[in-house]
Amino acid sequence: MKVLVTGGAGYIGSHTCVELLKAGHELVVVDNFSNSRVDSLEQVEKIAGRSVRIYDVDLLEKEKLAQVFGEHSIEAVIHLAGFKAVGESVEFPLKYYRNNLIGTLNLCEVMSEHEVYQLVFSSSACVYGIPKQTPVPETANLQAINPYGNTKRMLEDMLEDLSSSNENWRVAVLRYFNPVGAHPSGLIGEEPKGTPNNLMPYITQVAIGQLPRLSIFGDDYDTEDGTCVRDYIHVVDLAQGHVSALEHLSTGVHTYNLGTGRGYSVYEVVKAFEEANALSIPVQVVERRPGDAAVSYADPAKAERELGWRAEKGIFDMCQDAWRWQKHRQGGNG
Ligand code: UFG
Repeated sequence: MKVLVTGGAGYIGSHTCVELLKAGHELVVVDNFSNSRVDSLEQVEKIAGRSVRIYDVDLLEKEKLAQVFGEHSIEAVIHLAGFKAVGESVEFPLKYYRNNLIGTLNLCEVMSEHEVYQLVFSSSACVYGIPKQTPVPETANLQAINPYGNTKRMLEDMLEDLSSSNENWRVAVLRYFNPVGAHPSGLIGEEPKGTPNNLMPYITQVAIGQLPRLSIFGDDYDTEDGTCVRDYIHVVDLAQGHVSALEHLSTGVHTYNLGTGRGYSVYEVVKAFEEANALSIPVQVVERRPGDAAVSYADPAKAERELGWRAEKGIFDMCQDAWRWQKHRQGGNG
């Protein structure tokens, strides 16, 4: 298929592009490079041994986006472009509503105008807020607790309404749990701007000596060791989930959790990282971070049943690949 990937230069996007190319699809990428670099796509081409058409387009620039659809016979879209930092979304909600909502609105309008009705949409486990039950099934209540999560939930609603209005639409909504790790080649990975907000990139920066120690946000939760439990999923598994979703699109909107179905506490992740990479991570326990759920992990059974997809890589792979990527970046090649 000829597939347009929005946000294809980003962390999830670059890994998804590799897997799409490996599966034989032809790619057109649009990205505004606000949180990514064009180099990542050069590395994607190197890993896959195939080339990608790249456009520097912001989804808020609808005319430019329409031009891309005019130039290519796009058959399906994987829509990953969006702002994703929870804390920033609380501070600057309008920035998030404008970018995520209007960008997706423009994309869907341009798709309709060009009669492209196949869409894989990047959502987030954030739409569940603080889950009332674990593992979390797709049918769990949606109660996002921050503007970022609200944008994803609103967009999910918009896609439902759109598909009700026209039965040509074939949409997969993918709710990611906690994507971590990097491509095993060490050539692509996550590149957080400034101090990382997320656990794994924070740990790798402590490991390399850029940060003195990891602050653990609370060890008095109602969990086995008191630290929060999350469903970490290797980014290559997540990327393969997009390929499976694309290849199983069917009429209507179908929503899937992408996770492993297994939770790890913060202490367990730190220990796994230390063992996988034979080094030690200094930690200190600090105050809880507002808005953190004690436990969140996926019930990924629906994705396995309907998409034939399941996460294969374990926590050691995640830790080793994250560390290889951090060292590669430090070497100045990343
Ligand atoms: N944590 C620390 N110290 C840190 C960073 C994180 O102790 O420096 C802890 C957090 O308290 C949490 C766990 O590590 O218990 C994971 O935190 P992350 O920030 O890595 O991930 P979150 O689960 O908070 O959020 C992630 C994404 C969101 C997404 C959500 C979906 O950042 O975008 O998963 O569940 F919406």
